[in-house]
Amino acid sequence: MARKKVTVVGAGNVGATTAQRIHECSYADVVLLDIVEDMPQGKALDILESGPILGSDALITGSNDYQDSQDSDLVIITAGIARKPGMSRDDLLLTNKDIVGSVTKEIVKFSPNCLLMVVSNPLDAMLHHSYKISGFPRHRVFGMAGVLDTARFRTFIALELNVSVDDVQAYVLGGHGDDMVPLVRYTTVGGIPISELLSSERIDAIVQRTRQGGGEIVGLLKSGSAYYAPSAAVAQMAESVLLDKKRIFPACVYLEGEFGVHGLSLGVPVKLGANGVEQIMDIELTKDERSMLKRSVESVEELVAVMYKKS
Ligand code: NAI
Ligand code: 2OP
Repeated sequence: MARKKVTVVGAGNVGATTAQRIHECSYADVVLLDIVEDMPQGKALDILESGPILGSDALITGSNDYQDSQDSDLVIITAGIARKPGMSRDDLLLTNKDIVGSVTKEIVKFSPNCLLMVVSNPLDAMLHHSYKISGFPRHRVFGMAGVLDTARFRTFIALELNVSVDDVQAYVLGGHGDDMVPLVRYTTVGGIPISELLSSERIDAIVQRTRQGGGEIVGLLKSGSAYYAPSAAVAQMAESVLLDKKRIFPACVYLEGEFGVHGLSLGVPVKLGANGVEQIMDIELTKDERSMLKRSVESVEELVAVMYKKS
């Protein structure tokens, strides 16, 4: 059986590490595409040459030409600018809107049947824009953020309790901004609700650190934003799609009434398989959770309004 084909657009920190992770797993050939001449070709060749050491026979090529992305099964958009200290994800809005819009048009031209995973920030607004430009059905366009936010939440809980991250189950919903919604009620350690193990003050502190998890890394790196955990999150979602694993992840999708949200993209729990978003888990929220989600919805709505404001 032929390997699946994945194109990663944007060969910067997130794009290149994502391409590396997917190549290492061998289940897809990868095209790494960027506007910078020769750079994606250099990174792809370097990754390809790791194949004999790591045991991967998958192909990876670099390109500046969308023709090479033709007939991809999955396209991952990481193109755009990243945060620097003092910038919020929202500061990237208009620049990345133009980039994500033009990338989406090219992708649709060459891979009309692909699944699209958006990573560029501000994620929820970029997913919204890519979905609108693509003309694809909504189950074929989704965004990565919740898996990363949830991984941060799980990491901080595991550190606090000195337990394996494997035993920490958690959910972070809503937009990929500082008002994301970590669902404490669904957070368990070895099946035990977190409220049995930590005081509400410690839980609040962990929730706050999770919300600011992206900014914490930006503050330390000083020249860009996180990419090791983000690319691990993208690769995990890609695996679920490429191997039809049907895993349940928080992912950003265009909502049409689910969670009471109409015509906006937001992070919610979904089933990810070969057909993309195969199900949206429209779970019941408490009053408090609904009001936190409302704040997150309002933030994304503001970004979408700015994006489409007539100048
Ligand atoms: P980076 O600056 O290292 O790489 C961006 C790449 O995009 C550069 O190589 C640049 O040449 C390329 N690019 C720019 N315009 C392009 C175009 N029109 N076509 C093709 N390529 C183009 O940035 P990094 O760290 O890789 O981050 C990429 C994006 O992902 C940023 O917007 C960042 O905020 C976002 N991000 C989102 C996360 C999430 O959870 N959704 C997590 C981490 C990053
Ligand atoms: C993060 O959360 C930059 O959105 C990215 O690290």
